[in-house]
Parts: sequence; structure tokens; C-alpha cells
Amino acid sequence: MLVSATEMLKKARDGHYAVGQFNINNLEWTKAILLTAEELKSPVILGVSEGAGKYMTGYKTVAAMVKAMVESLNITVPVALHLDHGSYEGAQKCIEAGFSSIMFDGSHYAIDENIAKTKELVEMAHKNGLSIEAEVGSIGGEEDGVIGAGEIADPEECAKIAALGVDFLAAGIGNIHGVYPENWKGLDFDALDKIHNATDHIPLVLHGGTGIPAEMIKKAISLGVCKINVNTECQLSFAAATREYIEAGKDRQGKGFDPRKLLAPGTEAIKATVKEKMELFGSVGKA
Ligand code: 13P
Repeated sequence: MLVSATEMLKKARDGHYAVGQFNINNLEWTKAILLTAEELKSPVILGVSEGAGKYMTGYKTVAAMVKAMVESLNITVPVALHLDHGSYEGAQKCIEAGFSSIMFDGSHYAIDENIAKTKELVEMAHKNGLSIEAEVGSIGGEEDGVIGAGEIADPEECAKIAALGVDFLAAGIGNIHGVYPENWKGLDFDALDKIHNATDHIPLVLHGGTGIPAEMIKKAISLGVCKINVNTECQLSFAAATREYIEAGKDRQGKGFDPRKLLAPGTEAIKATVKEKMELFGSVGKA
């Protein structure tokens, strides 16, 4: 059974740790993340971008696969299936498809329009038992065609969006999707502190979790971050392990071309990355 992310993030806030959102792309990704969460007794959020949803042939396919896999693998830890950076239309489709959580990313609208649309979706999500994340101040970089300039969120705007009843809030604090450039200035902790205090301690979400140094992650958690999104890092470890397998010529040995063999090292690499992150975020043993 899937659960909304509300309870797990309230527990994380009160316990001063963060739950990882790991984005999925296919069956191997989903299996690797679920098995690691179960092994480490950690709650987990599976993120699905609109692009990944389309790639997997639609949100209904994703919801059916994840629900069936949770059951078949006897997963007992709390699992939320969450739409990542959803549009207004995408969010509604995921409510219908059986997701347990949605993000509405209205950060590219003027604040009044972001407020109006977020408000409508909060009502729809809660009526159907889903949790909802909203965003203020766009996250820098590019993810699946969604490009953000990387603004620092305004605490007053965050307060207005938080007051609509969203369950957790993504606020731009200098974080960027993908690999951080060499000259990255780091997270703006001053802004994070102001946002945390302006929003009545709503669980905050840190996007762009790939490559943020451990010390910054820990400090962000101490300032109210309860959910950290990781996507690129799993893709990089999957690609590196797959490259190593091919470059070693293993696909040409025996039945090494069998997809179940070919994709195995990458799947193991995703597990290792997820484990490392769960340990860093402090969610191990918190299920
Ligand atoms: P990264 O790809 O930088 O880890 O960011 C993931 C993310 O924020 C998903 O919303």
C-alpha cells in the first residue's frame, strides 16, 4: 500500500532527519530503491517527473507497477509515490492514476497565479488523501526540460503558499538540479533560516540533492529541511557501472548480453547510492 508523505515528513521534522525522494525511470530503478529502503528500514518517496511518467507510458502504468511491486517484494516501510515538478494538468492526472502524493510546481507563474492554482490543487489532493508539495523561487538548472533560473525564494511568498495548507514546501535557496558547477556559491542558509521561521516550521524540501556536500546537507536538515530529492546521482552511478560492464567486454561473455545480467551492475550501483544518501539523511531505522 502506498501512503501520503505527510506523516513521514512530520516525523522527520520532529526527529531532525530527512526522507529521501529518489526519482524512478523504470522497473530496475524502482526495485533498487524499494529493496534498499526495506533493507535499511527507511521510509522512502519515489519521485516521478512528467518526462519519466511519459517514458514509462503514463502515470497509470507507474502507479500499477509501484503498487504491485510493493506487494510482491513484501515492502513494509512507508512508501509514497510522488509526482515531481508537476504541472496543473499533470497533478490532476496523478490524483486520478492513484499516486499518493503530488508536487505542483507553480514557481514560474506570478505569485498570485501560483497561489490560486496551488489552492485548488491542495483541495483536490486532500479530498483524495494525497499529500501536496508546492514550490516558491525556482530551482536552478534543467530537469526533464523544466528549466529554473535558481532564484532565492522570498520568505513572505513562502509564508503565503504555506498558509494554503500544502504539506511541504520546496523553496529555492541556491540549489540546482544536476551536477553543481565548480563556481557554485553553496546553499543560502540565511534565506533557509528566514523561510523556516516565516512558514511556521512546515517541512521544507531541498531539490537538487546530487552533489551537495555532506556538511551542507546536515546544516540544511538542522534548519528545517525534511525531504531531499536525488535524481542525477543515481543516473550517474547506473551509467558508470553499466559502462564498466560493457568496457570489460562482459556483454560478450556467455549470456552477458541478457538484459537481466546487463542491467544488474547498474541496479546494484543505484542501491549503493540510495544507501549512502539514506545514511547521510538520517532516515535509516526510522520506518
Ligand atoms: P538532482 O537531479 O540534482 O539530484 O535533483 C533531483 C531533484 O531535485 C528532483 O526534483
